[in-house]
Amino acid sequence: MRAAYVVEPSADHPVDALRVGDLDAPPAPAGWVSVDVRAGALNMHDIWSLRGVGVPPPDGPRVLGSDAAGVAGDREVIVYPVLPTAPTGRTVTHATLLPDAGHGVLAERVVVPAAHLVPKPAGLSWAEAASLPTAWLTAYRMLFTRAALSPGQVVLVQGAGGGVATAATCLAVAAGAIVMVTSRSPAKRERALALGAAVALDSGERTPELADVVVETVGPATFAHSVRSTRAGGAVVVCGGTSGFTAHLDLPRLFAREITVHGSTMGTLDELRSLVEFVDTHHVRPVVDSVVDLADIHRQAGRMLAGAGFGKLCVSLS
Ligand SMILES: NC(=O)c1ccc[n+]([C@@H]2O[C@H](COP(=O)([O-])OP(=O)(O)OC[C@H]3O[C@@H](n4cnc5c(N)ncnc54)[C@H](OP(=O)(O)O)[C@@H]3O)[C@@H](O)[C@H]2O)c1
Repeated sequence: MRAAYVVEPSADHPVDALRVGDLDAPPAPAGWVSVDVRAGALNMHDIWSLRGVGVPPPDGPRVLGSDAAGVAGDREVIVYPVLPTAPTGRTVTHATLLPDAGHGVLAERVVVPAAHLVPKPAGLSWAEAASLPTAWLTAYRMLFTRAALSPGQVVLVQGAGGGVATAATCLAVAAGAIVMVTSRSPAKRERALALGAAVALDSGERTPELADVVVETVGPATFAHSVRSTRAGGAVVVCGGTSGFTAHLDLPRLFAREITVHGSTMGTLDELRSLVEFVDTHHVRPVVDSVVDLADIHRQAGRMLAGAGFGKLCVSLS
C-alpha cells in the first residue's frame, strides 16, 4: 500500500524527512478493522513527527497522519484518531494519537479500532470529511466544551489561516457568535470575512471590543494580545503554539479581570460525533486549502511549514 512515512526525522529539514512509498499494511489487532482511505489531511503534529519531536525515534518506517476518511466494508467513515489511556469520560489527557502508536492513517489501507469509526455525512467530500478528526475536533472542544460558548458571545480567533483557526471561525459563526479574527496576511483576513467573521484585524491590532472567548493556537506571538483582548470573566483557550511554547503572561490583567486560561487537546469520540452532527445540521463545509495526490504531499508539508495555507492541507488516496 502507498503511505506517507518517516524513517529518519530531521529537526531542521522536516519536509526532506517525508517519504512516500509502498509499505506492508500493518496487521489488525483484535477488535480493529481495515479502512480503505480516500483522503487524509496534514497537521502540525505530522511536522513535529518529521522533526522527531514529542515521539520516540521510529524503529522502522512510521506512517504519519491523524486525519482520514474512507471506506470500511460498505460504510463511508471518518476515523477517530485518539487512543485515550482512560477509554471513557470527558477527559482526553495523556491521549495517544494513532500515528504515535504506529498506526498513522496517511496510507491507502489502515487498521483502526472498530469503535473509532464515525459515519461520514453524505454532503461532505472526502477531503472535507478528512479535515474533521483533528483540527476541527480540537476547535469544537475548545469552543463548546472548554469555553461553553453561547450564541451572541464575542469570539477572537488568532492566526486566521490555520486549520484549527478556520474551524473555530466557521463553528463559532454557525453557533451564533460574533467572530473577530487576526492574521498577518490581508488575503487571509479577506477570506476569514468571507467565512462570516465580523471583524478581521492585523496580528496584534487592538480589537474593537473585548472577547468572551479567545481561540489561541499561535502561542507567544499572539498570547499577550489574547489576554489583553479578553473581557472580565472571559476565557483564553490554548491548544498549541505554532510560534513557540513559552509565552509572557500579564498576571495583574489575569487576576484583575478574572480571566480563565484553559488548555485543550483534541476531543472525545462523543465530541467527534457531535461535531459531525453539528456540521451536517448547520451545513458547514470544512475549509480545504487544497487537495493533492499523496505523491505530492511534500507540497502540502511545505505550505504548512511556511504558514501559507488557509484551511486544511489535504491529500487524496483514491
Ligand atoms: N492540542 C491539540 O490537540 C491540537 C490539535 C490540533 C492542532 N494543535 C496545534 O495548534 C496549532 C495550530 O495548528 P494549525 O494546524 O491549526 O495551524 P498552523 O498551520 O500551525 O498555523 C496557525 C496560524 O498561526 C499563525 N502564525 C504562525 N506563526 C505566527 C507568528 N509568528 N505570528 C503570528 N501568527 C503566526 C498563522 O496565521 P496567519 O498567517 O493567519 O497570521 C497560521 O495560519 C499548532 O501548534 C498545532 O500543533 C493542537
